[in-house]
Amino acid sequence: MTAPEGIERILFTEEQVAQRIREVAAEISKKYQGREVKLIAVLKGAVFFLTELARAIEIPVKIDFLAISSFGGAPGMVRIAKDLDEPIEGEDVLLIEDIVDTGFTTRFLLQTLAGRAPHSIGICTLLDRSVRRIVQVPVDFRCFEIPDRFVVGCGLDYKQLYRNLGYIAVMNPGK
Ligand code: IMP
Ligand code: MG
Repeated sequence: MTAPEGIERILFTEEQVAQRIREVAAEISKKYQGREVKLIAVLKGAVFFLTELARAIEIPVKIDFLAISSFGGAPGMVRIAKDLDEPIEGEDVLLIEDIVDTGFTTRFLLQTLAGRAPHSIGICTLLDRSVRRIVQVPVDFRCFEIPDRFVVGCGLDYKQLYRNLGYIAVMNPGK
């Protein structure tokens, strides 16, 4: 398949992504052994990662979703546009992220979920661009650290496109 226009280079191939997700799923299965874990993802970017991860986890898994939308224009100004279907009180929750960038979104989600009295809450992200972090958030599981470039694929979009690419690629729309 030829790469779509604007794709500059592939950072991680489909095989590398699949392999790494299996490794992280094994870490999660080990850490939560004997318990069940609820995976919570934000629509829409993290859905691709969540489903692949969930299939590779070997302990009982529940899933739920929420959606957020930004307002005010400033970073981190987000609100819940669609809430979870079920309460999380007393549960072991893993927040599944597509990417932790500045950290604003993740911190908002973490604080929101922590206020609902889960037994525990952790963060699992497909991509971590820690060089751009502004607010610190505790990332418990990460598949890949990435450089300071805009990326698409595996759920990440550019203008809602490219989420379905099986690989992670650097996007340069001007190319
Ligand atoms: P944060 O609040 O700065 O951590 O932003 C996180 C959100 O911005 C992610 O959930 C993505 O939706 C979006 N985002 C950040 N970087 C990228 C990227 O390189 N490609 C696509 N979306 C991105
Ligand atoms: Mg997006």
